[in-house]
Amino acid sequence: MFEIGLLTIIVLAGLSVVWFTLQLGISPMPSSAKATRAILAASEAAGEGAIIELGSGWGTLLFALARKYPHRRVIGYELSWLPWLYTHLYKSIFRLPNVELYRQSFLAADLSSATLLVCYLFPEGMEQLQQKLAAEHGANRLLISSTFALPASTPEQTTRLDDLYNTPIYSYQLG
Ligand SMILES: C[S@@+](CC[C@H](N)C(=O)[O-])C[C@H]1O[C@@H](n2cnc3c(N)ncnc32)[C@H](O)[C@@H]1O
Repeated sequence: MFEIGLLTIIVLAGLSVVWFTLQLGISPMPSSAKATRAILAASEAAGEGAIIELGSGWGTLLFALARKYPHRRVIGYELSWLPWLYTHLYKSIFRLPNVELYRQSFLAADLSSATLLVCYLFPEGMEQLQQKLAAEHGANRLLISSTFALPASTPEQTTRLDDLYNTPIYSYQLG
């Protein structure tokens, strides 16, 4: 009986990840170690203040940022249930009080308080983000985007990773 219950939970959890992947158009694929290191290095160009991750997935980048900047608010928005739940548990177990997690679309969130925005999305998500940023009034924000560029902005800096795809990490000075 216990095994059947456990198996049901595992199957439902797996199905929820598949469902959100189909709904959102992107899986919760985590940033690689190289991408994480490059994003942490690029983040040093941002001013003090809150950091927001747009689609925080399993928290790979979120927790790396929270450890690098323990005195800054590090906020993650994630819609997919299982990664969001995992990051909640991780935050509690590893006691990272500067991390805030919201199971909410970043497209419906107020991003104006952040001095640093970080994302690893997909082309359509970058188009939606471009429209959202154009409609918002935030001053002096740095956006770091892994792999995908904003369609209508020129990055201030592009770093290419030493990996199979020479993955680009784009930095945009916004506002
Ligand atoms: C490729 S993963 C990257 C995860 C994490 N940022 C990292 O680098 O390890 C993209 C994540 O964005 C989430 N996502 C996509 N659109 C979203 C939205 N509108 N609001 C919140 N999360 C979103 C997906 O569920 C997925 O977990």
